[in-house]
Amino acid sequence: MKNSDVLLHVTGRSVFLDDIPQPEGLLHAAVFASPKSHGNIKKLNLTNAKSLDGIVDIFTHEDIPGENQIGGIIRDEVLLANDHVLFAGEPIALVVGTSRIAVRKALKAIKLEIDFLPVITDPREAFKKGELIIPPRTFSLGNIENAWNECDIIVEGQVESGSQEHFYMEPQSAMALPREGGGVMIYSSTQAPTAVQRIAARVLGLPMHLVEVDVRRIGGGFGGKEDQATAWACLAALAAFKLNKPVKLVLDRREDISMTGKRHPYTSDFKIGLKKDGTIHAYEVMYYQNAGAATDLSTAILERTLFHVTNSYFIPNVKATAASCRTNLPPFTAFRGFGGPQAMFVIEAAIYKASEALKIPASLIQQKNLLEENSTFPYGQKAKNCNARECWQEAEKHFKPADILRETEAFNAQNAQYKKGAAIMPICFGISFTNTALNQAGALVHVYTDGSVGISTAAIEMGQGVNMKIRHVAAQTFSISEDRIRIESTNTTRIANTSPTAASSGADLNGKATEIACNIIKEHLKRAASDILNHPFPEDIGFKNEKVYCRDIETDLTWEKLIDTAYWKRVNLSAHGFYATPRLYFDRTVEKGDP
Ligand code: HPA
Ligand code: CA
Repeated sequence: MKNSDVLLHVTGRSVFLDDIPQPEGLLHAAVFASPKSHGNIKKLNLTNAKSLDGIVDIFTHEDIPGENQIGGIIRDEVLLANDHVLFAGEPIALVVGTSRIAVRKALKAIKLEIDFLPVITDPREAFKKGELIIPPRTFSLGNIENAWNECDIIVEGQVESGSQEHFYMEPQSAMALPREGGGVMIYSSTQAPTAVQRIAARVLGLPMHLVEVDVRRIGGGFGGKEDQATAWACLAALAAFKLNKPVKLVLDRREDISMTGKRHPYTSDFKIGLKKDGTIHAYEVMYYQNAGAATDLSTAILERTLFHVTNSYFIPNVKATAASCRTNLPPFTAFRGFGGPQAMFVIEAAIYKASEALKIPASLIQQKNLLEENSTFPYGQKAKNCNARECWQEAEKHFKPADILRETEAFNAQNAQYKKGAAIMPICFGISFTNTALNQAGALVHVYTDGSVGISTAAIEMGQGVNMKIRHVAAQTFSISEDRIRIESTNTTRIANTSPTAASSGADLNGKATEIACNIIKEHLKRAASDILNHPFPEDIGFKNEKVYCRDIETDLTWEKLIDTAYWKRVNLSAHGFYATPRLYFDRTVEKGDP
C-alpha cells in the first residue's frame, strides 16, 4: 500500500498544527497551572502580568460564558480551576498575547497564594478513604470459593505497574478562529474531534453547529490525545471567542509532560491456584487503578482491564474486582492498550510466581492454559476462530524462545554486573470500543467530474497509516488507481458525531463506512453505464482497472468517460456511508455480553 504521508514526512512538508499558515492578527496563549497538588486558592493576582508588553488579556474561570466543565464520561473536571486545585499542573489561567515568548514571560509575573491541603497519591490509600470514581466492579466465572479446595498449590502476590508519558512528537496544540455568527473554528491536534466540538460548545455556551473542528493529521497520539487534547482546544477557543481574534495554544514539551495525564498506574493483589500439571484452576484479583484527580477515561479503561483479566488463557474459576481510585495527580488517561496491559501484567506475574512454586517453566503453564475454541471469558463471551495454539507454535518456530531463554541464562551465569532478561507472553486483545455505542463511523465520498475522488471520514491520521488503508478500500471498491484518491482532513462539518480514533478500530470502522459510501455511488454508476451502453440490466455492469465491463466483457467506456457522462446526465456522484459494527452488546447489570 502507498502511504503518501511518508514522502511528506521525510521531506518535512507534512502540515502539523503549528505549520498551518498563520492567520492575520494571530495571538498566542500559554497556560498558568497550579504548582501544587492540592489546596485552596487564597489569592490570584494578575495585575503585574497583565501590564507586561505584548499581553492582551488573561482569562480565568470567571470568563467562561458557558459551563466550566470538560468531563466527558463524568462531569468532574473543570477547564480552569475556581477556588481550589486538585493536582499540580491543573490550569488556573490563560495568558494571551502577541508572541509565544511574551505570554511565557507573563506566566512568571502571576502571583498565586494557596492554602495547602493533604495530598493522596497512592490508590490504596484513596481506596481506604473511599475516594472512588465509581463503585468497584467485579467480573466472575465459575465458583471461586469452592475452587481453592480443588487446587494443588495456591500462590499470592502483589503487582505494581507504573505510569508512562505518551511522548507524541507533536505536543498538545490547538488554534481557534472566530467565525461569523458567533461561532468558532478549531484546528486541534486531537484523536477525538467530536469530543472537542461537544465540550467547546458546552464551555462557550454554543450549539454544536457553531463549533467546527478540523484535523489534517496529528504527530502521534497513543491515547494521549483521545480525551486530553480537549482542554487545550477549549482554552484556545475561549480566548478566540472572547477576543474575536485567532488564538494559538501550543504546549512546549515541559508544559505538556507536567500538565497532561499518562498511563494509569495500577497496584494489584492476586491469588492463583493450579493443579500439579500446571493447569490454572482459580484466579482472584483486585486492581487498584490510580485514576488521578478526575475521571477522564478512567472508567472505560477500568472496564477494559476487566475484559483482559485472564489475557489469552481459559481459567474456569475467576473473580476480578477493579476500583478506580481518585488521587491528587494529573488525570491519567488512554494509552495504547487502554487498561488491557495492566491486567495482563498481573496474570503473567502470577504465572511466573506459580512456575517458581511448581518448579516448572512459566512457558509450560502459559501454553497449557491457552484459549481454545469456545473457551468462555469471565464476561461471558466465547472465543471464536481461536488460534491461540497455532500462534504459539508459529512463534516457537520463528523465534525459538527456548534458545533465547537458554542464551540469556548462560549470559547471566557468566556476567556478574550485566544481566539480561527475556520473557515470552501471549496477548489476547479486544478490537473494538468496550462502549458499544462508539463502534460507529461515517464516510463522505465525492467523485469529481475529472474522475478524481475526495474522501472524508471520522478517522484521524496519527502516523498509523489509516488514510492509506481507507484510500486502498476506495481504490479496490471502485477498481481505480489510488492516485486518483485523496483523503481529506477530518472535519466535524463533513462527518458528524465521530468516535475517537482509538480502540484499534479506526481502519475497520471508517474503512467499512467508506466501502458502503463507494458502493452507493457504484450503484448509481451502474445505472448510468447501462444507460450509456444501451444495456437494460445495471446488474450486468462491472468495473475493473478503470474500465467498465458488461457481462464480464470489456467495453470502451473508461472511468473518466463514465464519470463525465454521468455528471451531464445528472447522476449523484456523492454519498455518505454509515457503519455500525454488528452483533456487539454488553450488559453492565450482569457484567456479561459479547463486547
Ligand atoms: N474505548 C475508548 N478508547 C479506547 C478503547 C475503548 O474501549 N480501547 C482503546 N482505546
Ligand atoms: Ca503528555
